[in-house]
Amino acid sequence: MSTSAIQSSIIIGCDHAAYPLKEKVKSHLIHKGIDVVDVGTDNEKSVDYSDFGAKVASQVSAGKFDRGILLCGTGLGMSMVANKYPRVRAALCNDLFSAIMSRRHNDANILVMGGRVIGEALAAEIVNSWLDTPFEGGRHQARIDNFKSFERIEQRRGIDD
Ligand code: RB5
Repeated sequence: MSTSAIQSSIIIGCDHAAYPLKEKVKSHLIHKGIDVVDVGTDNEKSVDYSDFGAKVASQVSAGKFDRGILLCGTGLGMSMVANKYPRVRAALCNDLFSAIMSRRHNDANILVMGGRVIGEALAAEIVNSWLDTPFEGGRHQARIDNFKSFERIEQRRGIDD
């Protein structure tokens, strides 16, 4: 956990396809007493999901926030973009089991959901489970450490090219 991270805050972003669900998820978080930093989008006018995915993932990657939430139509595009960033472990969870396991086994730091896939009630339950479930560590930490080394290999390759 970064010492500079805004511990009690969650950064959230979406594209036009998930704007209605993002507003519901944001209200749910605020109702739970969590500070929400919303990077948009703020309406249903067509935008590129990657721009908003980058806004959230870059801040989690930099340690400014411990947790983020991203939403697009399916959740697929946002997951792909977010996982380009070092230290980001974005998990697409359109069901409860995935949400719980993404925390227990993967220590996911960005939750991704699909605004055209799930409804408000399921999204709220997914958010609750994702926030409440701790990481189990142990062998799962070793596995995460293993793929972190791939990030370093890629960064090194960039320098050497
Ligand atoms: C937008 O039409 C849609 O492609 C986007 O929200 C997302 O589902 C992409 O993965």
